[in-house]
Amino acid sequence: MRMIDLIEKKQHDEALTTDEIKWMIDQYTKEVIPDYQMSAMAMAIYFKGMTEEERSALTMAMVESGDQIDLSAIEGVKVDKHSTGGVGDTTTLVLAPLVASVGVPVAKMSGRGLGHTGGTIDKLEAIPGFHVELSQNDFAELVNKNKVAVVGQSGNLTPADKKLYALRDVTGTVESIPLIASSIMSKKIASGADAIVLDVKTGAGAFMKNVEQARELAETMVKIGKSVGRDTMAVISDMSQPLGNAIGNGLEVKEAIDTLKGEGPEDLTELCLVLGSQMAYLGGAASSLEDAREKLEANLHNGKALAAFKVFVEAQGGDATVADDPDGVLPAAAFTKDIISKENGVVSEIVADQVGIAAMMLGAGRETKESEIDLSAGLYLHKKVGDKVSEGDSIATLYSNKEIKEEVVSKVLSNIRLSETGTEPTLIYDIIQ
Ligand code: URA
Ligand code: CA
Repeated sequence: MRMIDLIEKKQHDEALTTDEIKWMIDQYTKEVIPDYQMSAMAMAIYFKGMTEEERSALTMAMVESGDQIDLSAIEGVKVDKHSTGGVGDTTTLVLAPLVASVGVPVAKMSGRGLGHTGGTIDKLEAIPGFHVELSQNDFAELVNKNKVAVVGQSGNLTPADKKLYALRDVTGTVESIPLIASSIMSKKIASGADAIVLDVKTGAGAFMKNVEQARELAETMVKIGKSVGRDTMAVISDMSQPLGNAIGNGLEVKEAIDTLKGEGPEDLTELCLVLGSQMAYLGGAASSLEDAREKLEANLHNGKALAAFKVFVEAQGGDATVADDPDGVLPAAAFTKDIISKENGVVSEIVADQVGIAAMMLGAGRETKESEIDLSAGLYLHKKVGDKVSEGDSIATLYSNKEIKEEVVSKVLSNIRLSETGTEPTLIYDIIQ
């Protein structure tokens, strides 16, 4: 086979065969096919798209390019959840113990934050003593015993995707739905889940800026998952404003604890119930999505979800008293500052990516992979879209261990927009199954 022939085939809008895709990804991973030929292919795919068969073949070729995690030592249907990335997205911290509390094993591999989006691993490390380095054996044992464990990414998962993603990033080929879908699904499949729940975000803080694009991405990923034997469902959820009220690692741990007590922000609670219902249903703990939701809701109010959180934290070395006394256990910021509204109105928009960047400037995120993060830093929104504001109200509180600069204050203030009537926020746009 010759790469030039495959590039021209795609350029003429012909579908590549599974063998051709396998060969291409294998040779690219081994650095036989150079970056410049792969860039031309990515651009051809960007313009011509891929058929269902091609997308599944590409996904599996990337899965097979590296290690695949074997979760067979864990009993039951292993369900994974993936979010396409957002600001203040605390769902995993809530979902892992909540779904475990109804008996579904949650064997979660998570990442760190980069740029204006956070990562579950950083958030968990705000709990003193919590560690995410577990051997395969310890990981499986913990999930079998407690139904939940979270580990950091390790091993050589989907090296083809790593190379291809870096190449797409510098060749204008990131925003191609078949390439995004196969990239995300290859990582989920290589990490060993039997079933996958996808949270596809839409809005200013997300990759997919509008609902139509988000729906197309969600449908594409669900088809890929099903075609390779993994039960897959997707939720299209709003990321035009940050999720919940807290943005920042320690602040989000506290918000997750409140939610597990049934006292969390409305939007975060609702999204966790929707995603959690899918996980519990796919995991076989409920006869329908409605039945799953009832069980989850009950556990948010009867203490079982919080109890599962304590067991989970303690098993990974963390201080479980954080559940009863978050303020006493989580890192505290040296500086805080209230953002005071200068006008009356109703909140019409909280620009998620900009507010995420403000949290990062306070120390909650990394500018580069090597930056140290301030686990106490971030911001707390006292108002969300649709809430009334009067002049003099505190609309947000900022937290940091470095002195809070005027630049950050004005960034937050200018990105919480008021109007006379406001707008009603939508949280869930669609469910794809
Ligand atoms: N996230 C991924 O993992 N891959 C993409 O291609 C885009 C977003
Ligand atoms: Ca949040």
